[in-house]
Amino acid sequence: MTSTLPDGAATRSAVPEPRGGEVRVPYEVLLDETTAFFGRLGVPEARARLAAEALCYGDLTGMDSHGVFNLGRLYRPLLESGGADPLAEPLVLRDLGACVLLDHRRALGLWAASEAMDLAAERAARTGIGLVSVRGATHFGCAGVHARRAADRGMIGVVASNCGGQRIARPPLGAAALLGTNPLSVAAPALEGRPFVLDMSTTVVPTGRVRTAARDGREAPEGWLTDDAGRPVRDASAYDRGEAWLGWLGGTPATGAFKGFGLGLAVELLAAVLPGAATGPAPAALEGDGRPGGSDDDIGFLVLAIAPGALRDGFEEDALSVFGTVADCPPLPGEGPVRYPGHPEAERAEERRASGVPLSLPLHAELTALGLRLPAAPEGTR
Ligand SMILES: NC(=O)c1ccc[n+]([C@@H]2O[C@H](COP(=O)([O-])OP(=O)(O)OC[C@H]3O[C@@H](n4cnc5c(N)ncnc54)[C@H](O)[C@@H]3O)[C@@H](O)[C@H]2O)c1
Repeated sequence: MTSTLPDGAATRSAVPEPRGGEVRVPYEVLLDETTAFFGRLGVPEARARLAAEALCYGDLTGMDSHGVFNLGRLYRPLLESGGADPLAEPLVLRDLGACVLLDHRRALGLWAASEAMDLAAERAARTGIGLVSVRGATHFGCAGVHARRAADRGMIGVVASNCGGQRIARPPLGAAALLGTNPLSVAAPALEGRPFVLDMSTTVVPTGRVRTAARDGREAPEGWLTDDAGRPVRDASAYDRGEAWLGWLGGTPATGAFKGFGLGLAVELLAAVLPGAATGPAPAALEGDGRPGGSDDDIGFLVLAIAPGALRDGFEEDALSVFGTVADCPPLPGEGPVRYPGHPEAERAEERRASGVPLSLPLHAELTALGLRLPAAPEGTR
């Protein structure tokens, strides 16, 4: 299995001094220790490595709400409870060549979504397009790590996931939680080593960003959370106390919340209704008090690869022109360079491969308690 991560030159010897409230851990150490952790939970080695690459991608690129933060909080309980089966073999329910329907049978989404993208890309190489529609899936981490596998082959990748029957956000003007944070990613070749990777939740942020802010004692920016009456909530820990609701991309109904909500529904349709996975909007969602609930079993994925070369020559040159023009856009006075989605993550990954992945002290302590052998936190901070 080839890695989809940007090439770089991290070595175990490149350990800089820990800075401030964080510890810098060499990427290869984090990857090896995460792989070993999955191995201790019964995940076979090749799968454990691919899962660790997908998870550490979050920390490497700065999408750390979906990085090793979730190891103890999400993936350990998922594997220990049987919610994910480390040995599950995805089952082909239908295979039409360009179009495949899979039942993942609770396989660990972190590796199985990457495998699904490899299958989609293999079909796209033959027919121009490959759609792998998945039900029975489990949490796959960052959508972008799976989508960029297509970009690495010169293709366009589209990946989306619903959250099974889990309900987190209520519709604009609605009083009952119906949808999850429903991530969506579109990836394509762009500047050399810096693919376009749009990778986002369709709610204003994923719950992981609210939780990492709460854990690190940071306030939620205005726009993330509101109370029952729609007033802004700045205390990030209010979300897990059930005292705040997650907002939609676009903000309020007046500023575009229905666009974010519509995107969330589009993901529900493409990722879950299409393969027949569990959905958030279901009659049970309207019973009870409307608060967040439901379980993230039986998640659905949309995994799509498009091979532009099947349609015409010149796609890569034209994509390079589009993304190169964006990168050359003059910034506003006093602002940094203009970047397209995926570009800052690739730069961050390069820097972190060279000088280590920063882990906040609370996260470092959590991982150490889980048995990961990481460089020690500085004296006086433990
Ligand atoms: N598995 C799940 O159930 C689930 C659910 C929700 C989110 N997620 C994942 O959480 C991660 C974080 O999501 P998010 O919504 O917080 O993402 P985000 O807000 O950090 O970034 C969203 C997009 O904006 C782009 N971007 C941000 N700053 C930029 C800049 N300065 N210049 C150019 N582009 C910039 C990023 O490249 C990215 O494509 C993603 O990987 C997503 O797939 C997973």
